[in-house]
Amino acid sequence: MAEEMFFTIYFFAISLLLTVRVSSNLIDYSEIYQRNVSLELNPGLNSSLTSLPPGVGLLHARALGNNDTLHYLLCSLGAPALLLVHTNSKSSKVEVDWPAFLSTNASGSLRVTPENSVLYSNALVFTRLWEYSDTNDTGEPEHLPASSFFQPYELQNFTWRDMNNTLDPTAHTAMLCGGDGSENFSNGSFCLKFSAFDSVAREKSWPSLLHNANSSQVRVWLDGVTPRDNKSRFSLELQAVGDTQPMTRVNVLLSIDDEYTPSIFKVSQWVSLVNTTSPVLSYAQWKPVAYRKASPLFEDATPCHHSTPVTIAQRPPSGLVLAYFKGEPHTTGLNITFSIAGDPFYNTTNYLSWTVLIGLGSPPVDSFSPLVVAIMTVGLGTPLLIILVGSACVCVRKKRLQPQVYQPIN
Ligand SMILES: *[C@@H]1O[C@H](CO)[C@@H](O)[C@H](O)[C@H]1NC(C)=O
Ligand SMILES: *[C@@H]1O[C@H](CO)[C@@H](O)[C@H](O)[C@H]1NC(C)=O
Ligand SMILES: *[C@@H]1O[C@H](CO)[C@@H](O)[C@H](O)[C@H]1NC(C)=O
Ligand SMILES: *[C@@H]1O[C@H](CO)[C@@H](O)[C@H](O)[C@H]1NC(C)=O
Ligand SMILES: *[C@@H]1O[C@H](CO)[C@@H](O)[C@H](O)[C@H]1NC(C)=O
Ligand SMILES: *[C@@H]1O[C@H](CO)[C@@H](O)[C@H](O)[C@H]1NC(C)=O
Ligand SMILES: *[C@@H]1O[C@H](CO)[C@@H](O)[C@H](O)[C@H]1NC(C)=O
Ligand SMILES: *[C@@H]1O[C@H](CO)[C@@H](O)[C@H](O)[C@H]1NC(C)=O
Ligand SMILES: *[C@@H]1O[C@H](CO)[C@@H](O)[C@H](O)[C@H]1NC(C)=O
Ligand SMILES: *[C@@H]1O[C@H](CO)[C@@H](O)[C@H](O)[C@H]1NC(C)=O
Ligand SMILES: *[C@@H]1O[C@H](CO)[C@@H](O)[C@H](O)[C@H]1NC(C)=O
Ligand SMILES: *[C@@H]1O[C@H](CO)[C@@H](O)[C@H](O)[C@H]1NC(C)=O
Repeated sequence: MAEEMFFTIYFFAISLLLTVRVSSNLIDYSEIYQRNVSLELNPGLNSSLTSLPPGVGLLHARALGNNDTLHYLLCSLGAPALLLVHTNSKSSKVEVDWPAFLSTNASGSLRVTPENSVLYSNALVFTRLWEYSDTNDTGEPEHLPASSFFQPYELQNFTWRDMNNTLDPTAHTAMLCGGDGSENFSNGSFCLKFSAFDSVAREKSWPSLLHNANSSQVRVWLDGVTPRDNKSRFSLELQAVGDTQPMTRVNVLLSIDDEYTPSIFKVSQWVSLVNTTSPVLSYAQWKPVAYRKASPLFEDATPCHHSTPVTIAQRPPSGLVLAYFKGEPHTTGLNITFSIAGDPFYNTTNYLSWTVLIGLGSPPVDSFSPLVVAIMTVGLGTPLLIILVGSACVCVRKKRLQPQVYQPIN
């Protein structure tokens, strides 16, 4: 029967579609490049010879691959900074000349050796927290007069709590929390939570960024700080430092799937590349969303936007950057602004969190989950089914109406 034939074709097409989608998902997930991740605090420090100033710490995460190593260094000397160094050796090491590292003449005091194994290095520095009074509720600090801005919180001047109590060697995480010591931070803190990853996965908590073995993540939050105005909003200034290719452009990609990050259909990638056609060398990737509660519900999401990256003449005030980069590294910077016009001000929850992924090579790309693929298949397949069944019926009816030309031979 014609109907049967159409049904067979239909189900064949649907199952083909599903197989292709699901297996392409599997391919994305089975690109399982594993690294062995280990954490150490203050590498090479002999505490009986050198004592650290309070709040200063250097976390080293080593992510060992088959023929290469990724070194992540998170440091609270000056503005908090995350340095990423990629080497083509399985035995590269971080060497710190601690007395020099802590001095004012720190250049060259932190090296990754052997130095000729270093393929690429790049640092991301959290420099300032801007607070502005959004009296007209525009959500656009770029268009506000200088008088709307409060004195920025210089993160280089913050006092940080010891990282050693927050180190989780199995989850590969550590936390840096601090404040400026003023009364407005007396019940509050600015925190960074660093995570290193050994394989492909996705975090449960929003924005649930997809990560892989070549990436790390920093979640930033501002909790319980007394705003200096009822209509205060915040921006975070980031600076990127690179020897060869600075992070010069932000690409914004669109998606039709917001399953992992409800209501957010964009992903922003601040990338380092040789030219517009060459592959990405490293990146900072984020979804343009912040959350106004520590355990957010859908309505606690608030969109963010970034400013255009600009070249910055000076190096950022990070001890790690001063110690590692020699010569004249390139520095670029941008601001991430939390909230948009019409969204509640900071004073409603006194909380903001934002997450960024930092990694080597091409940024991870979200793919559709099998659930969304199934929904799409049904959504697209049902009209197709109706058309096919409709045309099948018409065919069959036409056939029935045709006169019987061939008579059986008696
Ligand atoms: C630290 O330095 C002291 C004095 O030089 C030395 O005795 C000790 O063995 C060193 N400790 C480590 C862990 O290297
Ligand atoms: C990671 O560690 C495991 C067990 O110690 C080892 O078998 C594996 O070869 C290591 N992988 C890499 C990439 O070094
Ligand atoms: C590491 O090995 C992979 C294949 O496993 C190869 O594609 C890559 O070029 C190698 N990288 C280096 C730095 O040798
Ligand atoms: C800084 O360190 C370098 C090498 O370690 C040394 O040559 C130079 O004299 C030092 N400068 C100061 C001002 O201490
Ligand atoms: C707010 O809007 C009023 C009226 O449009 C304008 O006069 C004022 O300058 C604006 N204030 C700020 C800080 O932009
Ligand atoms: C932060 O520290 C720098 C260097 O110590 C100093 O020049 C600056 O005035 C401080 N800024 C604030 C806001 O305290
Ligand atoms: C953390 O380091 C400080 C000194 O920097 C030390 O006094 C403290 O005991 C350490 N805490 C842990 C849990 O190791
Ligand atoms: C900090 O919390 C205490 C106790 O809840 C409160 O008395 C104090 O006013 C708060 N300080 C600020 C600056 O909000
Ligand atoms: C703390 O906040 C109050 C307003 O709430 C402001 O007047 C004061 O200048 C702030 N203090 C500092 C050190 O920023
Ligand atoms: C926050 O500020 C707004 C605008 O001034 C004000 O109406 C509201 O009462 C404040 N909320 C809290 C919790 O202080
Ligand atoms: C971009 O850089 C690649 C090397 O990474 C080079 O082969 C290519 O010619 C360059 N393209 C342009 C337009 O400069
Ligand atoms: C961030 O915003 C502040 C306030 O508008 C501005 O002064 C600063 O130059 C901006 N930083 C960057 C890197 O664009």
